[in-house]
Amino acid sequence: MKKKFKLLLLLITFICLVFIGIMFYIRNVRYTFKLADKVSVNLNDSVDPAKYIKDMKNVNVYYESIDTSKAGIYKIKYTVKTNLGIKKDYYLEVEVIDNTPVIKVEPEVEPNPEKVEIKTTEPVKNNKVVSRTSSKGYKVEEINSVTYVNGILIANKTFSLPSTYNPGGLTSEVNAAADEMFAAAKVVGFEMKAQSGFRSYETQRKLYNNYVNRDGKAKADTYSARPGHSEHQTGLAFDVCAKGYACINSNFNGTAPANWLANNAHLYGFILRYPKGKTNETGYLYESWHFRYVGKELAAELYNNGDWISLENYLGITSEYSN
Ligand code: DAL
Ligand code: ZN
Repeated sequence: MKKKFKLLLLLITFICLVFIGIMFYIRNVRYTFKLADKVSVNLNDSVDPAKYIKDMKNVNVYYESIDTSKAGIYKIKYTVKTNLGIKKDYYLEVEVIDNTPVIKVEPEVEPNPEKVEIKTTEPVKNNKVVSRTSSKGYKVEEINSVTYVNGILIANKTFSLPSTYNPGGLTSEVNAAADEMFAAAKVVGFEMKAQSGFRSYETQRKLYNNYVNRDGKAKADTYSARPGHSEHQTGLAFDVCAKGYACINSNFNGTAPANWLANNAHLYGFILRYPKGKTNETGYLYESWHFRYVGKELAAELYNNGDWISLENYLGITSEYSN
């Protein structure tokens, strides 16, 4: 009897030890690891993979970072190591979005011949008409349906270009001035380039229509020109991107390269085309990245010691759509 009792006690002790062992094992092996759902970040945003871990228990996690300098869908790899040394990989999809007008510029599309037929129905006058003077007394001329005020080609909401207007790229004068400006920027440590320069009527049409579909017409009109009305169609304007900085969106405003451009572009003949607080004159929101070539003399006048005067104000013209 005594022996039986001893055996029973031994058995109970054994069962208890097994139970404790199982509990200990479960506590150390069971882990939780949960990632955020698919996430989106903007171009050039810094990504901290730790931010996307929603729940983590009894594990160590090692992760890789991603390069956000190009739009696309990327995967961050998370390697999870449990307390017992078991390894498992998880992946999180991250979409790098280029939500700025110009980054999504479609490649230049040669107008198809059928469309050209239709477009040529637009009257192109081979004449020169001195029709009037502007409110500031400058001569307003229309040459082949292109408006010049005091000899400056104008493309804005009031004055459009014919759909056939196509200089075929930035003009050589603009390219040379831009090269000079970017070389000067490099000396002070900024790597800049013209990210979006010339656009054909067709490219601008597609771009504008994309924005209208995304944001509605009223909002799109505050930052994107209707086809025929964009300065990008003139071959005299471009948008600047600086390496390591937000590109063609409002995050570029106030950055060191944006400030450098605002203070130096005039030395190379460029104007800050859509200055801050001048929307009622230019028709567009502030664009710290859009520069237009007008030559050094006029650029110096519009620079106005850093308090940029809009081209519309200077010339005494409007920028308003008729409908
Ligand atoms: N973003 C400028 C206004 C354009 O579309 O030409
Ligand atoms: Zn632009």
